[in-house]
Amino acid sequence: MSALLEVSHLCAGYGEVAVLRDLNFTVAGGKITAVIGSNGSGKTTTMRVVAGLLPVRSGRIDFDGRDLSKAPASERVAAGLALVPEGRLVFPEFSVEETLRIGAYCVRARSGLTARMAQMYVLFPQLYERRRTLAGALSGGEQQMLAIARALMSAPRLLLLDEPSLGLAPAVVSHVFDAIVAIAKSGVAVCLVEQDVHLSLEIADYAYVLENGAVAAKGPAPELLQSDQVRTSYFGL
Ligand SMILES: Nc1ncnc2c1ncn2[C@@H]1O[C@H](COP(=O)(O)OP(=O)(O)OP(=O)(O)O)[C@@H](O)[C@H]1O
Ligand SMILES: [Mg+2]
Repeated sequence: MSALLEVSHLCAGYGEVAVLRDLNFTVAGGKITAVIGSNGSGKTTTMRVVAGLLPVRSGRIDFDGRDLSKAPASERVAAGLALVPEGRLVFPEFSVEETLRIGAYCVRARSGLTARMAQMYVLFPQLYERRRTLAGALSGGEQQMLAIARALMSAPRLLLLDEPSLGLAPAVVSHVFDAIVAIAKSGVAVCLVEQDVHLSLEIADYAYVLENGAVAAKGPAPELLQSDQVRTSYFGL
């Protein structure tokens, strides 16, 4: 079966700085694929290039059999790619409900908006209770849930999640991770970048280790969890 997302020989960076150097990875439909790596290894840059926020210098991004390497971000959203950026970035002056409506702006997502909003409130019941609250007044955990729900409102086939656990209390993290597992079970593929390597490998099907903008190791997540390389680098074992 061919992959939903296929990134091949990808190079990208900022100004003179090359960050991604011949990066190759795939994400299978409906599965959780984790991308782990130390600070500055290029995880956020990868997410931004795939989402179309940073240009491809060379290489390709194929999604659902289509070359999206040069497509603007809005066309990628329309094709079914949605990014939840690092730091969540919700608009503080919009309510929860308004934020969810904004998430459904692409044409494909407009029909069925009400039903999808109801699904978001099932996935995150706190958001229903806070639906008239301004996003800026939510807790960090609620803002993360809102950022995920906003992305899901575009009815994506692949959700790109950058550091969803950052700065959250452990109980909230486990809630968010339960939701990520539920999202994948519903058929939406997830590409998960996460500083909590143990947690991300526990829920992922497959994982890539990024070093200096290229893949240093890859494999089924349970195997990487046991590998000496990952245990030494990330768990201090
Ligand atoms: N806007 C920018 N301009 C110039 N260099 C940048 C910019 N953003 C990131 N970089 C550099 O690109 C490299 C990769 O950064 P990136 O944010 O992709 O790493 P990361 O793996 O997401 O790290 P972290 O775990 O800290 O989130 C780093 O060396 C960083 O300093
Ligand atoms: Mg990052």
